[in-house]
Amino acid sequence: MEKFYITTAIDYVNGSPHIGHAYEKILTDVIFRHFAKRTKNAYFLTGCDEHGIKIQKTAAKLEICPQDFCNNNAQKFVQCWNLLDIHYNQLIRTTNTNHKKIVQKIFKKLLEKGDIYKHSYKGLYCSGCECFLSDKDLDENGCCLIHQKKPDLVSEENYFFKLTKYKDRIIEYIKTHPDFIVPDFRAKEVLNQLQDIEDISVSRAKSSVNWGIDVLDDDSQVIYVWIDALSNYITALGYNPEGESDELFKKYWPANVQVIGKDILKFHSIYWLAILMALDLPLPKHILAHGWITLDEAKMSKSLGNVVSPENVLKGFELNHPDAFRYYLAASAPVGKDGNYSDLDFKEKVNAQLANSMGNLLNRTLSMLVKYFDGIIKPEFIVKNELFDKAQVLIDKTKTHFDNFEVQEASAEIMEFVYELNKFVTDNAPWTLAKEEKWTQCGQTLYVVLELMCVVAFLIEPYCPNIARLMTQQLKFDINTTFDDIMFSNIKAQKLISKEEIKPVFLRIDSEFADKK
Ligand code: ME8
Ligand code: MG
Repeated sequence: MEKFYITTAIDYVNGSPHIGHAYEKILTDVIFRHFAKRTKNAYFLTGCDEHGIKIQKTAAKLEICPQDFCNNNAQKFVQCWNLLDIHYNQLIRTTNTNHKKIVQKIFKKLLEKGDIYKHSYKGLYCSGCECFLSDKDLDENGCCLIHQKKPDLVSEENYFFKLTKYKDRIIEYIKTHPDFIVPDFRAKEVLNQLQDIEDISVSRAKSSVNWGIDVLDDDSQVIYVWIDALSNYITALGYNPEGESDELFKKYWPANVQVIGKDILKFHSIYWLAILMALDLPLPKHILAHGWITLDEAKMSKSLGNVVSPENVLKGFELNHPDAFRYYLAASAPVGKDGNYSDLDFKEKVNAQLANSMGNLLNRTLSMLVKYFDGIIKPEFIVKNELFDKAQVLIDKTKTHFDNFEVQEASAEIMEFVYELNKFVTDNAPWTLAKEEKWTQCGQTLYVVLELMCVVAFLIEPYCPNIARLMTQQLKFDINTTFDDIMFSNIKAQKLISKEEIKPVFLRIDSEFADKK
């Protein structure tokens, strides 16, 4: 693999980040970190979506200027991603000057090409969706199906983008690229939506919305939401519609995978493809539409007052790093399906899997190595057994899962292997071997576990970078090993560890926070 470019949706900054936003960024970060082990050229873009009527209104209510409002709120997202160890290369903000300039040029180019035209229009606009709705998007009371709110009747002269011109090419692309939309069952949905698409409004009159990017040479209009927002994936790389683009763009575009929520799949698999086609640019290889994160099986929403912030979870459980939360969310649902967060389930799962099965296994094994052998791996301990073949199978399966973006499935395989290692220890009972003074056999058992725990640490690292670091430090193993080297002598015949160096890699969560619920 010569390069890997991955993006997330850019979040509206009219609120604070919640665990749904966090899920997407964690999912993307796990995929990114996995592929960063497979290519040196991996690039991860995330960002903030800062224009539109919702932001304009919220800022007005607070009586601050929209830019200050965006600056404050964008900080909350940046801080949240830091807290969660989201390892992005760039966080683009759509109020950034460079982005705005390129979007204006994109708009101008499409206008000159005739793909954007001016048109008087009357329609129903949903500010929740930030788009015009058709009859199909409304319930029997005329409310938006997603937001259960009556859309506004808007009558304006706007610029329109000729989406219909690209309809057949988009259908053709989706049909001939069955792995373009992940998971593939969503492709049908998109093909249905494509049946009755119309040209889309891509600007708004300044008299009704002014918090947007100005249309060049037209004082009355601002470029509206989707052209602005979707373009971030290329403006961030220095795409130039009028001439030579930056090296970053040449190196990384098209994206390998664009991670988004299922609610905005239409915009990414239809509008975005059409814009790229209109610009004569190559299309992304995959759109990964993840599911929804519910809270205690209920939809999270501001109006229900049940929005949970990642920060509160980490604080509530007194966690000093985000690994357990990352692991739990990334493993919460198979790719594309909805997942759920609950405090109790979180606590139970990470205690059982990260603390008891994985952390304890390493801790017990290292402690026995110290107790019986003063922490020394002797040359005669180094023997392979059938678990090594299983580890090789696990590595191959993990790669295949990630090729299909099956993040949950991969973590389940890794944990399954940890259970096997635990069973191996129980079956071979090194403490009994020690009692019987079968020293070589005892040492061999410990060696097998430690050697293969290096593989576990390597594979779990994208989910749990902090825990993996604590593991590899104690195993004297270089986490920057590649997939090609991971099956070769991770543990050397040497003094591996002393008693003082052994520390638990993940402590059980015993916070009252969860017990109270
Ligand atoms: O849609 N569970 O922004 P946004 C899982 N600015 N994912 C969730 C979620 C939940 N409960 N709630 C939101 C936008 N998301 C646009 C995107 S991209 C060019 C522009 C996901 O702040 C949602 O599906 O409403 C989306 O992918 C992302 O968070 C940002 O949502
Ligand atoms: Mg949304």
